[in-house]
Amino acid sequence: MAEVIIVKNQEEAGELYGRSVADLIKAKPNAVLGLATGSSPLAAYQALAEIVKEESIDVSQVQGFALDEYIGLPLTHPESYHATIHRTVVEPLGLDPAKVHVPGDVLNGTSLEDGEKVAGAGAAYDAAIEAAGGIDVQILGIGTDGHVGFNEPGSSLASGTRVKTLTERTRIDNARFFDNDINQVPTHCITQGIGTIMKARHLVLLAFGAGKAEAVAETVEGGISSFCPASALQMHPHATIIVDEEAASRL
Ligand code: GLP
Repeated sequence: MAEVIIVKNQEEAGELYGRSVADLIKAKPNAVLGLATGSSPLAAYQALAEIVKEESIDVSQVQGFALDEYIGLPLTHPESYHATIHRTVVEPLGLDPAKVHVPGDVLNGTSLEDGEKVAGAGAAYDAAIEAAGGIDVQILGIGTDGHVGFNEPGSSLASGTRVKTLTERTRIDNARFFDNDINQVPTHCITQGIGTIMKARHLVLLAFGAGKAEAVAETVEGGISSFCPASALQMHPHATIIVDEEAASRL
């Protein structure tokens, strides 16, 4: 059963994450962080960056693996998850960019037509995570339909990193990053699988606002089902779900 912590706001959630990850890095300088995009983890990265600065923590050996990436966007596109992770995590924390990986790094704008290149990228990413020693703490947001990473409803709970089609709901949700134009939102992505995510030693899922209440209730109190991929967290030995009162309102 996942532990649920209800906080006042994103800042309070961010401090919990920041303190625990800062302590992890002090104990294990080459800690492996699982990183996520989206708005939910931003305060957490900011809190961690502040603690790292205040306590002069050496992060030069820290490794990072992001959850997911769109397919078809060049790495330099401001909304690529490569660019987003570098802007929101690598730069503020002062991580070594060479030690932070995003699933689409080798694809860099590759289109789906280049089937062979796209097909091999998922397994190679999972192998890189294993070679790094596995993820110590994976931060997660949640989609309004219960997706984590880009594992949309119906995703196998045993899946590894692979290419997926985005649902229309997620493309509508994410159109805000693409001039509110769904036609600019890519149709496919590469994402760590639920099986990949479940291998991380600690999962920290953050959800804020009433829009996430239904997905949070399904995740915590619904049956374990691929129709709410986040419900797999119920089976994880160390999962922490940090929510504000609005996101907890259906619990
Ligand atoms: C995207 C990402 C997810 C993220 C979700 C929610 O779909 N692929 O990893 O959890 O958005 O984003 P937000 O935190 O902005 O609500």
